Amino acid sequence: MFVIEWLFGPPAGGVPHPDTWLSDAELERLARFRFEKRRSEWILGRFTAKTVVAAALERRGEPRPNLRSIEIVPEPSGAPYVWDVVSGRRLPVSISISQSAGRALAALLFTGLPESERCTVGADLEKVEPRSDGFIRDFLTEPGRAEVASLETPARPTRANGIWSAKEAVLKTLKLGLTVDTWNVECLLAPGPLPEAPPILSPEGSGWNRFSVRCAAEILPPWALSPVFFGFWREEGGYVLTLAVVRT
Ligand SMILES: CC(C)(COP(=O)(O)OP(=O)(O)OC[C@H]1O[C@@H](n2cnc3c(N)ncnc32)[C@H](O)[C@@H]1OP(=O)(O)O)[C@@H](O)C(=O)NCCC(=O)NCCS
Repeated sequence: MFVIEWLFGPPAGGVPHPDTWLSDAELERLARFRFEKRRSEWILGRFTAKTVVAAALERRGEPRPNLRSIEIVPEPSGAPYVWDVVSGRRLPVSISISQSAGRALAALLFTGLPESERCTVGADLEKVEPRSDGFIRDFLTEPGRAEVASLETPARPTRANGIWSAKEAVLKTLKLGLTVDTWNVECLLAPGPLPEAPPILSPEGSGWNRFSVRCAAEILPPWALSPVFFGFWREEGGYVLTLAVVRT
């Protein structure tokens, strides 16, 4: 049984001064940000992500690392990975980060598992806001639009933002981001069939629901095993949180 560690940040206690938890290379990167909004979102996302990495290692029985010795580094695509400064090695994890309106979501799972459990994770966070008919028409596929329309009016913004967020989480788990047309991804928040050996979410028991995904075969990277996969979504405090999981 594999585990997805997640955290809806900022962590309890807030974000300490960056000098105390960013590595030297990360502090150099921080100094290059020109816009305050990007800078504060990046700090919040990085601290939330590093907190998840430290907690996950500790839960596996390893010593809690000094956060300055873990770097969250972008691949050329922008997708993040975790670098252990002390051993000079990439940690065997898949990690994903999202920031929205003062909050952040980070999720992680260990790779290097038995073949049947090998996955990557993508996380996305959206503040729930009204979405226009134009947004729904332009960004949701027909089944998603029908799902939104089937609900009472007050429930629609969460569903529309949730479907959009799920698409972004899917495109992150595939490491594509918005480099492909989002119409290639169909997400329905109504739960699909239960996947074989689903992951456990840690912490558990906090209102996660399942969603289902179908991707156009032409956008799938060769390492993704199937165009049909799944994810989890939940609503908290006016935000919708999504996690997509693809077998590799
Ligand atoms: C990835 C993307 C969908 C995120 O959209 P968003 O909703 O605006 O922002 P979010 O806060 O939810 O997510 C941002 C995080 O996604 C991650 N990310 C970026 N590109 C990614 C990719 N191709 N795959 C997976 N994750 C990615 C990063 O961790 C980023 O945060 P960080 O830059 O602080 O590390 C969007 O930025 C995108 O696709 N951009 C186009 C591709 C691009 O410009 N890549 C940058 C090359 S350096």
